[in-house]
Amino acid sequence: MTNHPTSLPGRERPRRLRRTGAIRDLVSETMVGSDNLIMPHFVLPTETGTGEIPSMPGILKNGIKPLLDQVENDLGLGIKTVMLFGTPEEGTKDPVGSPAVDSNGTVPRAVKALKERFGKDLIVMTDVCLCAYTDHGHCGVVNNNGVIENDPSLKHLADMARVHADAGADFVGPSDMMDGRVQAIRDELDARGHNDVGIISYSVKYASAYYGPFRDAADSSPSGGTRESYQMDFRNSREAVREALLDEAEGADILMVKPALAYLDIIKDVKTVTQLPLAAYNVSGEYSAVKAAAERGWLDEARVVRENLIAMRRAGADILITYHAREALKQGWL
Ligand code: PBG
Ligand code: ZN
Repeated sequence: MTNHPTSLPGRERPRRLRRTGAIRDLVSETMVGSDNLIMPHFVLPTETGTGEIPSMPGILKNGIKPLLDQVENDLGLGIKTVMLFGTPEEGTKDPVGSPAVDSNGTVPRAVKALKERFGKDLIVMTDVCLCAYTDHGHCGVVNNNGVIENDPSLKHLADMARVHADAGADFVGPSDMMDGRVQAIRDELDARGHNDVGIISYSVKYASAYYGPFRDAADSSPSGGTRESYQMDFRNSREAVREALLDEAEGADILMVKPALAYLDIIKDVKTVTQLPLAAYNVSGEYSAVKAAAERGWLDEARVVRENLIAMRRAGADILITYHAREALKQGWL
């Protein structure tokens, strides 16, 4: 018997829609472009100077001046949003993370400089968390028994957010995973007249080994213990929906799932229960793994980066926070 097309069940031929590049583009469902990308920045407590991050090739820590230059360049590529992570002056870390609420600290200074130079052309978001500023490296305050205390941490986080808002931040991004911090921050911002400063909440943040390179960069590793009593257990997904809905109820404007690639199912789950914009954080370890394999010639970086970013969007992320943003746009990978 000859193999005749009409013998195919239902005569379905999906390959018709894959025959040429133009047809594939025509029926493509998912796009990623500069409008939806956020570039993270590590900010040093200095005016000048930069530092390399050995585990994150292509990413620098920058003092204020090189930061401004970098952001100007990135704006030229279409990157209109930054997420700032600060590092305090040497020797200033303490148990409650005091340098985090210094109105003349690293992040407030950077925010002021960025808003002065770029105004409304740039959306400035700041990470709000204590771990880079506490001597113990935890995201909240710790009691004598080594317990990370929830409610006493809220005031510090709200103060930190207000200091960033005072400096001119457009959005603050709490990444600490204390219960009730979105509401505490919303209340503090509103009480201080910052009604229009938004909250991009790290709503669904798992205790992940993929944060390793970031902790080197931000010098924010806990000196004792782990973050498992506040960040989420990656065996759970119903809890992700619960956290997302709580943050929405507490007043978050944008929700986030973090990390991204091993959590595409979570992105999809959260997307189905919220009308808020959803961000995915393509974290440091996900970046470093791709860079390391690409450096060895084991992966085609351009194609892998595009595939990863598209996958996050396909899963339901509206916004992508990714260290790949600059290079992907510069090289035309998207
Ligand atoms: C601070 C914070 C972390 C990241 C973002 N904010 C580290 C952590 O929770 O240990 C991770 C980002 C990345 O890995 O790129 N709480
Ligand atoms: Zn933290």
